[in-house]
Amino acid sequence: MNSDDPGYTQAGVQGNEKPGNWPRLRIPRLLWRTGWSSEDEWLESARQLYQLMCRQFDLPDLGGMSVLDMGCGTKLSKILIDEQRPVGRYAGVDVNRDVIDFLQQNVRDKRFSYHHIDVRNDLYNPTGTPLTDYSRLPLNDEQFDIICLFSVFTHLAPRDYHQMLRVLRPHIKPGGRLIYSLFLRGDFSLLLIEALKSRDMQTVRWVFSHLHEALQKLPPQSRKRIEQRFISLTGRDVRSIAEMDINGHGEVSAAMSRDLLDNLNEKNILALAALYNKLSGAPVNGYFERVPDEPLQRSTYYGWYAFELINGTGWEVMSLNPPEEAIQHYFICCPDEEHNA
Ligand SMILES: C[S@@+](CC[C@H](N)C(=O)[O-])C[C@H]1O[C@@H](n2cnc3c(N)ncnc32)[C@H](O)[C@@H]1O
Repeated sequence: MNSDDPGYTQAGVQGNEKPGNWPRLRIPRLLWRTGWSSEDEWLESARQLYQLMCRQFDLPDLGGMSVLDMGCGTKLSKILIDEQRPVGRYAGVDVNRDVIDFLQQNVRDKRFSYHHIDVRNDLYNPTGTPLTDYSRLPLNDEQFDIICLFSVFTHLAPRDYHQMLRVLRPHIKPGGRLIYSLFLRGDFSLLLIEALKSRDMQTVRWVFSHLHEALQKLPPQSRKRIEQRFISLTGRDVRSIAEMDINGHGEVSAAMSRDLLDNLNEKNILALAALYNKLSGAPVNGYFERVPDEPLQRSTYYGWYAFELINGTGWEVMSLNPPEEAIQHYFICCPDEEHNA
């Protein structure tokens, strides 16, 4: 494929090139990611992702970093090489054999390596082997400072979401970071999770007042059962949280804060959010296809479910971030050091 491309050069060869004369990586149009109207727009999105990682990880550039780009496509390679953006080491992995073949044949810089993985994705690689705990990445035992997956979870079904996180876990260095983007449905449960985690008590109270209202509409038997469940999760009844006093600085009394927040471990927060979702009429199944006729074209998760699927993978959520120009919602995680991955 490469040698048929009229603009073909072996890019990234370090040696005699004059400054500004660096061989460009000419990527055949077929190996671009679709959905961008122009090459400029496509590449600008790659620059923004590079900058986003620097900003989020508090780095001037990625010069000292080793990066594993899972579901790499071609765009990050293109800007790293053409614009000589600093990176310590870059490993790209993808189920698309044409992408990997092209990059292997055309990138000659020793810091870069590309690896094909034949795992199943109904949209991108329907004949591959399902991702399981036995799946291994073609990277030996190599560990990285950063693992990134841009627009990959946007095409993963829930089972693969969870499994992908498990498979990646052995490849992060202690203290490393994982970043991945996804389509999230911003439901009330997401609001509640974020508010509880950031101790934003005004929002917590507001959400609970909705809950209280929703509960009033239930038949007495089910209301009682759910009220009990709330008490077991929060140590308080819904009404007392809905009516808690908050001073002008958004603070609640020390007793309330201790009772409510300190009781709420990660698991309880998720159970609470799932319960809330059920009550507020959102599907109990936290996943849906936004384009039902094209499976995995837009895999979309409800907030509580996107968190729940991280449980048991050996990752701990550091932040969930709102969409930006070049990216959907994105999680940043660190390895849960206590987890035996
Ligand atoms: C929408 S593209 C995004 C490419 C690139 N990350 C970007 O931001 O331009 C999704 C990529 O993920 C790859 N992919 C999908 N499922 C995968 C899996 N299970 N393992 C590795 N790569 C996968 C696809 O082949 C495709 O290249």
